Amino acid sequence: MSGTNETATKTSLGLSGVPETMLWPLWNRAVEAARGDRLIEDPMAAQLVESIDYDFAGSFKKPTVFHPIRARVGDDLIRDYLVRAGLDAAVVALGEGLDTQRWRVAADGVPWITVDVPEAIEVRQRLLPADDAVRTIACSALDRAWMDAVPADATPFVSAAGLLMYFEEAEVRSLLGDIAARFPGADVFFDTITPAISAKTLRGLKVAPSYTAPPMPWGIVVDDLTEFVESVPALRPVTVQSYADPFPKRTRLYRLLSRIPALRRRYAGGLVHARAVAGA
Ligand SMILES: C[S@@+](CC[C@H](N)C(=O)[O-])C[C@H]1O[C@@H](n2cnc3c(N)ncnc32)[C@H](O)[C@@H]1O
Repeated sequence: MSGTNETATKTSLGLSGVPETMLWPLWNRAVEAARGDRLIEDPMAAQLVESIDYDFAGSFKKPTVFHPIRARVGDDLIRDYLVRAGLDAAVVALGEGLDTQRWRVAADGVPWITVDVPEAIEVRQRLLPADDAVRTIACSALDRAWMDAVPADATPFVSAAGLLMYFEEAEVRSLLGDIAARFPGADVFFDTITPAISAKTLRGLKVAPSYTAPPMPWGIVVDDLTEFVESVPALRPVTVQSYADPFPKRTRLYRLLSRIPALRRRYAGGLVHARAVAGA
């Protein structure tokens, strides 16, 4: 999957900066999907990785289970939501990159609103199958224009996987508050990094000699997350957990280390399921 051979048949994407980060979780999902004890079924991720001319292993080094954990937790929440919401369902995927979640959760026919920056949307449209139920919005998630694409009668599920860390805390707070105000009863899913990791990215976090992660200004200690969500008007936490929690067999060492308070504060990322208060 290194992309160094057979480049003639592969697609060159020319991505850089924040949009290039979409290739990182894609790579980890593709590697995960080949494992016997995989957390996700994602044959499309593997096909995408095979088709893209990019040095995945050289850029991202050792594969990590954290992106598949995030994908699986989000998938499970969306599957539950689709059953609950029935005909009123609509999913918004903010910063969707090359995620293939729509196919993993078999959301055929469900309105699905993909929001990403124009460079990322161009790649998504080039590489993934078109679908009448999908609305693709090429704008920043911070531009509230995407909200108008949500069907008027829907109480949406809004996912922001691997996105909010690229914003400032005030932007995150304001975006979450506006989502909660506009869509009472909506489910919201997002993940977080710690302030220590955020600070490393601001100094230039070299993942590999050929790849430096872009700045991620927003970090929060996982144990401060519940209070943070409660402080956003009309938003309430449903489940707040660390990446070590949902699949302990796959995160044994990380789980052990994340019980040590100083390490937990520095390294434990968070997974948040929240809900907008209906009738607030
Ligand atoms: C780490 S990737 C995550 C992609 C996808 N959610 C996944 O889990 O595979 C971050 C994504 O956020 C997108 N992004 C960054 N800034 C954005 C913004 N202001 N508005 C919308 N999308 C943005 C990037 O283009 C990229 O696709």
